Formats: sequence, C-alpha cells, structure tokens
Amino acid sequence: MTLLELKQIKKTYLQGKMEVPALRGVDLIVDKGEFITIFGPSGSGKTTLLNMIGCLDTPTDGEIYLNGNRISALSKKELALIRRNNIGFIFQSHNLIPVLTAYENVEFALLLIGRLSEGETRERVFKMLAKVGLKGKENRKPGELSGGENQRVAIARALIKEPKLILADEPTANLDSENALDVIKIMTMMNMELGNTFIFSTHDPQIREYARRYINLRDGLIFSDKKKEQ
Ligand SMILES: Nc1ncnc2c1ncn2[C@@H]1O[C@H](COP(=O)(O)OP(=O)(O)OP(=O)(O)O)[C@@H](O)[C@H]1O
Ligand SMILES: [Mg+2]
Repeated sequence: MTLLELKQIKKTYLQGKMEVPALRGVDLIVDKGEFITIFGPSGSGKTTLLNMIGCLDTPTDGEIYLNGNRISALSKKELALIRRNNIGFIFQSHNLIPVLTAYENVEFALLLIGRLSEGETRERVFKMLAKVGLKGKENRKPGELSGGENQRVAIARALIKEPKLILADEPTANLDSENALDVIKIMTMMNMELGNTFIFSTHDPQIREYARRYINLRDGLIFSDKKKEQ
C-alpha cells in the first residue's frame, strides 16, 4: 500500500538574487511500513527532501501525495494539521523542552491532539517511555539525562501519537556509537512492532545498515534506490 508519492519534486532556494537548486526533480514512492535511509554528500538535499515530505516547507514545483491526499499545494495552516495528525519528527538535536520532565515532554505531544482521558494518557506515556528504555527516569528533565537518553525521549515523543510516518534527520549524529546503535535499534523495533514507516537520513554507514531501503541523493537527484536483499 502506497503511503507517500513524490512526483518531480523541485526546490529552489533564493539566496539574495542567486537561485540555489536543492532538489532538481525527485520521484519517489514509499509503501506503508518501509524503513528507509536517505544518504549522500553534505548539500545533496537530504534535509530539504525530508522537510518537503514532512510538510515543513513546500516545493517550488512538483506534487506530493500523502495517503492519496495532495499536500504539495496546501496552506501553512492545512500543512500544520497534516503534520500534527500524521507525522512524527526526530531531529539531530532532541529539541526537548528543558523545564519539562521526560514524562511531560512526551505527554505534551499527546495533549496537542487531546483525544484521550487523563488515565489513558498516563498509561500510554509510561508504556512508551518503558519501550525506549527509560523506565524509572520519567521524572528527569533533559539536563538530568544523557544525550542518548534524551534522544530516546525524543523518539518516544515522535511516536506517542502513533503517526503513520516518522521522519528523522540525522537522529544519531550527536551520539557516540554505542548510543547511536541503541537509537537505531529502538527505531527498528518500533517499525517492526507498530508498522509505522520510517525515513531517516544519516552520514553513518553503520547506522545505514539497519535500513531495508537505501536512497542515495546526489546534487538534488536520486542517484540510486536499492532494497536490501533478503
Ligand atoms: N534555507 C536555505 N536557503 C538557501 N539555500 C539553502 C537553504 N537550505 C538549504 N540550502 C541549500 O540547498 C542545498 C541542499 O541543502 P540540504 O540542507 O538539503 O543538504 P543536506 O543533504 O541535508 O546536507 P547535510 O548533509 O550537510 O545536512 C545546499 O546547497 C544548501 O546550501
Ligand atoms: Mg541535512
């Protein structure tokens, strides 16, 4: 089942009077449940592509369909709604709210959609934090957790709404290799257990190995797109 379709996506940034072509015609079809890495040299367009898919920015040209809905020509307000209901983000730096505990940071994402009772919310947040290995650390604030632990909170926050699509832009870039491996393993486990689709960018070949599909971007175009041999 197709989750996402990109047709000839182009993105050109204006830098003063200079046009910077970041994406030059990307075609891509992603099925539900895939676990995809995007890699390529610095400046090849990975972040730009994830931003287009994540409704954080709109393409200069081309069309994007998410679940069959055309999202490439929506207003900022409409895009925000699509994001809130369908997409989870994990960034390079965890972007947690420093004054809130791990529990509260994850709960916050859930409160924004506001469909659950207090008890249901509590249960779901505790369960998710346990899943990412933070049982007993629910009441710590980001300053009282390690980098790897904070990134786990960020994963829990991205997944708590059970989004169809999780986008992660270099999610392990700020972690040592042990924590980086833990983070990608948690992402793999979530993908297997919950069936959400993951697309993540990385410069790390060891992390890339965990993907089941490898998309190589070069110069704003897909240079190769390979599936892992079973
Ligand atoms: N806001 C912007 N304004 C102007 N140019 C931009 C902007 N964002 C990105 N670019 C340019 O677009 C191109 C693609 O950038 P992008 O950030 O997508 O690359 P990337 O593959 O994510 O690189 P990295 O591996 O360094 O994160 C680069 O040439 C970059 O300089
Ligand atoms: Mg980038």
